[in-house]
Amino acid sequence: MRITMLTLTSLFILACVVMLPSFGQEAQEGSLIGKQVYEESCAHCHGLEGRGDGSGAENLLPRPRDFTRGLYKIRSTESGQLPTDKDLFDIITVGMPGTSMPGWETSLSTNEREEVVKYIKTFFSGFQENEKPPREVRLADKIPYSKESVEIGKGLYVELGCVECHGNLGRGDGTSAPTLVDAWDFKTWPANLTENWNFRGGSDPEDIFKRFIGGIAGSPMPAFQGDTFYHFGLTPEQSEQYAALEKKVEDGEELTTEEEELAAQYFEINDTAATAALDWAEGLEMSPETLKIYNDAMKVVYEKSWHLANYVKSLSPEKRPEFAIGKHVLRSQYIQGELPALADETWNTLEFSYYPLFGQIVVEPRQFNPSIDSVNVKSFYNDTEVVFLFSWDDKTHNTSEEENEETGKTYQDAIAIQFPVRPPKGPTDPKPYFLWGGKKPVYLWQWKASAPDTLTELTAKGIDKAEEQEAQGNFAVESDYTDGKYSLWVKRSLKTDDKKDLQLDVATFVPIAFSVWDGGNGDIDTKRVISSWYSFVLEPLPSTRRFIYPPLVALLSFGLLVGLRRFIQRRNS
Ligand code: HEC
Ligand code: HEC
Repeated sequence: MRITMLTLTSLFILACVVMLPSFGQEAQEGSLIGKQVYEESCAHCHGLEGRGDGSGAENLLPRPRDFTRGLYKIRSTESGQLPTDKDLFDIITVGMPGTSMPGWETSLSTNEREEVVKYIKTFFSGFQENEKPPREVRLADKIPYSKESVEIGKGLYVELGCVECHGNLGRGDGTSAPTLVDAWDFKTWPANLTENWNFRGGSDPEDIFKRFIGGIAGSPMPAFQGDTFYHFGLTPEQSEQYAALEKKVEDGEELTTEEEELAAQYFEINDTAATAALDWAEGLEMSPETLKIYNDAMKVVYEKSWHLANYVKSLSPEKRPEFAIGKHVLRSQYIQGELPALADETWNTLEFSYYPLFGQIVVEPRQFNPSIDSVNVKSFYNDTEVVFLFSWDDKTHNTSEEENEETGKTYQDAIAIQFPVRPPKGPTDPKPYFLWGGKKPVYLWQWKASAPDTLTELTAKGIDKAEEQEAQGNFAVESDYTDGKYSLWVKRSLKTDDKKDLQLDVATFVPIAFSVWDGGNGDIDTKRVISSWYSFVLEPLPSTRRFIYPPLVALLSFGLLVGLRRFIQRRNS
């Protein structure tokens, strides 16, 4: 009996010892709901164990986040700090624009989102080990958006080196751009600051402010906190004086004793503030004096940062342009006489029509990580010719195939503009298949960066069934690449005598579609960005009712146009 008791007791103790860690673990793993939600909705991208290696991860760039390193991009917290629960909840709610991370506002309840936050935190032990809550970026003393503020911010954009990655005008075409990789060694690109609807974490000045003060953890974008700022600790006036002294020394001029003392004093202030910033970053106890030095220095930094956030805000249009449908459809405008050249001011009188582009993922090889967001188009025509101005952002200027250790294999940039061979007879007449045609062929203008002044005419019956036309048409072509933007100017006659070409008539709606290749992003052949069919029209002259001129003028020019068209038609037939 005693032996049985002893055995039972030891068995019980043994069981307790074995069970204990798993009790602890269950507490750590968060609730069952969180785990369930995660495994149902998140694991196929983020992986069962949170390593960012779910079955769908392979083709995605940026990759689904690996939660085991505690690196989070979109935080309200300072550099080096973990996100708050609210940060995680918010990003799960709204998703990350420009990536495959969806928003879950409608498909998961508030409670489910809260529980899944608890669950993903279990993948990184830092969340449990932290005793203090993460320090948040201070948003007080915001400087409102104004022209003056934007102007100051513009200077800081260069001073702080944003320009090296994001480029002169913010299109992400800085000199360092092609070489950047993230914390997991995957290729990554600086954001195009002129398209803020693609920002991962929102486009308000507050969002932008938090991104560069707190940094975007896991990405090569550094946190601009404290001593990364020029003359940290000095007031703007002191900084100006110090810069003047530094310049004198640089120019080999002697400093007076007084100046030398002043320079030493400023150096001292800068050094003390930088040391205080280090203590702060490391979370050390700070004396009230040191804390004051740090806070005073940060006040200047925060002020500058608001200006910079306002400048970044100013780089994008107020809202994303409307797609080229409905009243935004591309309407080529009539001009009497000579059509405008590439650099002509006349172009500024027209609004761009905006065509969004998407990665081609129907046919192998596919583009799952598109780098070009849209192409913009304007057009004029006169009695005999039509001219188009196409423009699109591209972070890299690639004119040939290249193999480079830092940037990998790149190809040349290109664009193709696609039309049906014949415009449909009406809205119900089917168009050719949007991916370069099928049974119904398409007619294409292809331009490549290696031959910037020429255009090739193709006829295609499928994405891999394109042929150069034997008789190449007469085009005038000019192009330009500046500050991360391509402009392509193409002029052609409205009518040609090649049956394989599209013939253009006033007031006929013509389907138009685009393919764009960013060679720097590995685009080649079917790997590219594409649009679906849109349409454009040679806008007929305004009706007489809208003319302020005497009706006679309108009648006359209309008569002329009809006459000319007849003449051309007769000549062509
Ligand atoms: C289709 C794939 C996909 C699914 C499904 C998905 N995610 Fe993501 N998620 C991503 C990608 C890709 C990123 C990284 C984006 C980036 O780094 O810019 C990401 C990033 C995140 C981040 C990091 C945010 C930050 O600030 O860095 C969190 C948190 C997150 N996901 C949570 C979830 C949760 C929770 C679910 C399920 C409810 C989920 N994700 C489902 C693709 C996905
Ligand atoms: C070393 C290169 C580098 C420098 C310098 C740099 N950035 Fe970035 N920046 C990036 C990269 C890369 C991303 C894309 C991050 C991501 O989403 O993975 C980015 C993204 C951004 C974004 C978009 C944030 C979002 O929500 O998606 C903003 C805004 C931004 N940077 C502003 C700035 C400003 C302002 C500066 C200067 C103070 C700056 N950057 C300096 C590389 C850089």
